[in-house]
Amino acid sequence: MTTTTFSLDPMTRCADRPHSEQPAPYATGYHAPVLYKEVVDGLVTDLAGTYVDGTLGGGGHAAALLDVLRENGRVVGIDQDPEALATAEARLAGAAEAGRFRTLRGNFGDLERLLAEAGIDQVDGLLLDLGVSSHQIDEAGRGFAYAASGPLDMRMDTDAPLTAADLVNRAEPEDLIHIFRAYGEEPRAPKIVRALIEARPIETTGKLADVIRAATYHREELKTLARVFQALRIAVNDELGVLERALIAGLRVLRPGGRMAVIAYHSLEDRRAKQFLRYGNFAGEPMRDFYGNLLTPWTLLTRKPITASDAEVEANPRARSARLRIAEKRNPEESGLGSSFSYPSS
Ligand SMILES: C[S@@+](CC[C@H](N)C(=O)[O-])C[C@H]1O[C@@H](n2cnc3c(N)ncnc32)[C@H](O)[C@@H]1O
Repeated sequence: MTTTTFSLDPMTRCADRPHSEQPAPYATGYHAPVLYKEVVDGLVTDLAGTYVDGTLGGGGHAAALLDVLRENGRVVGIDQDPEALATAEARLAGAAEAGRFRTLRGNFGDLERLLAEAGIDQVDGLLLDLGVSSHQIDEAGRGFAYAASGPLDMRMDTDAPLTAADLVNRAEPEDLIHIFRAYGEEPRAPKIVRALIEARPIETTGKLADVIRAATYHREELKTLARVFQALRIAVNDELGVLERALIAGLRVLRPGGRMAVIAYHSLEDRRAKQFLRYGNFAGEPMRDFYGNLLTPWTLLTRKPITASDAEVEANPRARSARLRIAEKRNPEESGLGSSFSYPSS
């Protein structure tokens, strides 16, 4: 696989790691990992280190990491979806048996607690490949997709209390308008919400899609469906809130010199990753010392996000919107923040 957009300085890569020459060596029917080679190249600094895949999914990135790490290198995979965990556990059973791989069920927003409970206090790398897996989208029963009708669910954690149907049928109109505007950047939110309220109860993705179609100009239909479904998914799973908590927790658990890699699929996530990995905050406000030097806990390794090559997008259209950003945690003494700097708590 070739990438024209990969912009990591070669000196920042960990040398001598093999990569398969096949076009999509880690893809399965469950999911095809996006930018796997760029993730591995950018994340791994110690072949005997401990790496956390905070979004394990079907285990594609985890498998790629395990393949390049030495026998004493470890991967810890986190997911809140029991089906994803079971899939990855079956796939990586050999590595688990060899003590190189283990899973933790939970929300990556609780990363620090999950790792502490597993007896892990510092790690060498953290990957967040955000959003949903292809399997979650393809399974109509999970209620993420408008293409096939299923129950209006959208929970990544199937034990979580709030479903998309709860929101659509019970939320106040102004709250729904806020959700569609803030998380879907939907310009016609009030019109769509009026149509939803009239059509209540809405229990399936099919009915929701029909109501949205009827309230939308034909040429805007697909974009509107995508925006509204995205907005509901973000709200149901509090995706932006947990991302902020995970980024802060990641900074705390990484050893100095360790790295964080974030793959975002829409601008709301990507903006948070970009600001945090550049400045150490979400406001996008640089902190500077008396001389104007930037004070940040990170060295950003990707000035521009890494995107998928044409070949990868052709093989896996989901890769089209992926934006990968990678940063290395600086030593508090070198970062200008001083050894007494306390990282924000998640
Ligand atoms: C894009 S998929 C990851 C695919 C994976 N990289 C692979 O190669 O198969 C995202 C996964 O992260 C999980 N996920 C999303 N948000 C999460 C969260 N807040 N906490 C834990 N898991 C989450 C989803 O359940 C899904 O399985």
